[in-house]
Amino acid sequence: MDIDPLIERARDALTNAHVPYSEYSVGAALRTADGTIHTGCNLENANYSNSLHAEEVAIAKAVTNGHEEFDRLAVSSGVRDGVTPCGMCRQTLVEFCDPDLVIVCDEGDGESTTYVLGELLPAAISAKMLSEAADEGATNEGEGADD
Ligand code: THU
Ligand code: ZN
Repeated sequence: MDIDPLIERARDALTNAHVPYSEYSVGAALRTADGTIHTGCNLENANYSNSLHAEEVAIAKAVTNGHEEFDRLAVSSGVRDGVTPCGMCRQTLVEFCDPDLVIVCDEGDGESTTYVLGELLPAAISAKMLSEAADEGATNEGEGADD
């Protein structure tokens, strides 16, 4: 089976991972609507909590370069474990991508598993949800809600 070209980019990116603590390299490749690809790898820190995840780095690079629309993300750990974005990265993806963002996870040996963001983080808190809550609050005030 041919390897997804976006997974190849994620695999290339993980070779630059800085992982002296976990020794677990992750690469990510995020494709914009116009076909530009932004890659990232995990960058760990001696204080542990400052570590950056591969997906965060890829999104930060893309957004910094003015991109706003994304259609596909690939992640790879280079081993047969089918790495998926962690909970924190899923929430970060929700901030910048639609629920139909396709996420391809490298399973090794040319295999991959495909998800969409909406199934990896259903019922996420989002800008849309906050603005709906604000509208709802304004309506309640108008109706003279007591507090
Ligand atoms: N890691 C990522 O880069 N992305 C994820 O979403 C999963 C976890 C990294 C963080 C840490 O450097 C290593 O993998 C082990 O958790
Ligand atoms: Zn993560």
